[in-house]
Amino acid sequence: MPFDVKFLARVRKEFPAVEADPTDRKRAFLDNGAGTLVTRRSAEMESHARVDWSANVGNLFPESKGAEDVILEGRRAVADLLRADGPESIISGESCTSLLFLLSYALSRDFTGDENVVTTGYEHYANINPWTELGGMGIIKELRFAKFNMETGQLDLEEMKKLIDKKTKVVTVTAASNVLGSRSDLKEVGKMAKEAGALFVVDAVHHIAHGPTDVSKIGCDALVFSGYKLFSRHGSFMYMRPELMGKLLPYKVDTSPKHGPEKWEMGTRDQAMFAAITGAVDYLAWLGDPSAKEPPHAGAQRAARVRDGMLAAEAYEKELSRIVLDGYGRILGLRYIEGLTLFGPKEVLKLGRDPTFAFKLAGMDDHEVSKLLWEKYAIALGAEDYYSRVPALYKTKTMCRATFVHYNTKQEAIALLTALSEIASKKK
Ligand SMILES: Cc1ncc(COP(=O)(O)O)c(C=O)c1O
Repeated sequence: MPFDVKFLARVRKEFPAVEADPTDRKRAFLDNGAGTLVTRRSAEMESHARVDWSANVGNLFPESKGAEDVILEGRRAVADLLRADGPESIISGESCTSLLFLLSYALSRDFTGDENVVTTGYEHYANINPWTELGGMGIIKELRFAKFNMETGQLDLEEMKKLIDKKTKVVTVTAASNVLGSRSDLKEVGKMAKEAGALFVVDAVHHIAHGPTDVSKIGCDALVFSGYKLFSRHGSFMYMRPELMGKLLPYKVDTSPKHGPEKWEMGTRDQAMFAAITGAVDYLAWLGDPSAKEPPHAGAQRAARVRDGMLAAEAYEKELSRIVLDGYGRILGLRYIEGLTLFGPKEVLKLGRDPTFAFKLAGMDDHEVSKLLWEKYAIALGAEDYYSRVPALYKTKTMCRATFVHYNTKQEAIALLTALSEIASKKK
């Protein structure tokens, strides 16, 4: 379904908060990199589960049976989203940070202190400290960072190849930088990892909302993402190859299940989190076939619709990216605004780029820029370090960041460019 004005209006109706904030102020929401708005289906399904399926699992009464069903349905939905083997390959957790710590500690049982882990230079700290912690305890020798090109924001694959050796146990990369928007070539990196006999782990937290994800095509052993970056609520999921899931021994209490994803889950599950992600995945399936009369069946049909929905969203986001980078008519794109430094890819590359744009305005504090954008122009975006290594590599503490998703409009992109041009020209 092409994202024409009519369809975009339908899409936006699926997001109750897209037009205005809680004070009823109309605004452009461009802080999606920090967490997207919630789709109506996700909120409704969560609320239903909260009220009706509130009991703990393992009992005969309906509240308990319902909770079990909702949890299984949530795992199925995530498996469809990721085109994973099935619900048994989906583990849930509090956040991706906690899931990556869980994984690194489980893997550490087999390390001897002589091994290394290889990652990229543009990771979020959620995918750094789980590995540096092991280094600090002498469980691995080091975490190696592959450089990226500071001008184009692209990962240096040649360098990454050189860093991977016989002692590399894990290659772990973000699918896309949460600051630069650069995408990692997952197929290539995955190949390198396999050739070295290392595990391949993907942090898809930032990228998940910006295109289809297929764990079998990527060939990864594990992949994490969070619901709050995918039109749902907090709480996160990890795909793990079932064979690996069975083999590894995570930290757990003795009495908790010994098999399946439950072996990896600490404490009591929140069934509403599973209901919420099912709602988000069903929304994405709707995006793939908005004329379908019936909701899709879990499994191959829903997985195909979700892929189509994500492909449509990705194609539309590409249009938005072109406007943001190149401009629109006489409106200058970020590449051309005098006094503005744009970090990361300056064009939509063959590999694609996520519609995330980090920038700074000369002579202005980033917080001042974000305050002005909000107060004068009603544009919501942040000024932070985003828990990323990236700002420090460019010798700055913070950057402003705009992240678009498929419910954003071309007018919102143009409004951002117009505002930034105006602010930059006043600073001259
Ligand atoms: C690329 C990336 N990885 C990891 C995280 C952390 O995710 P969580 O908040 O679920 O721990 C984020 C959050 O911004 C992120 O952008």
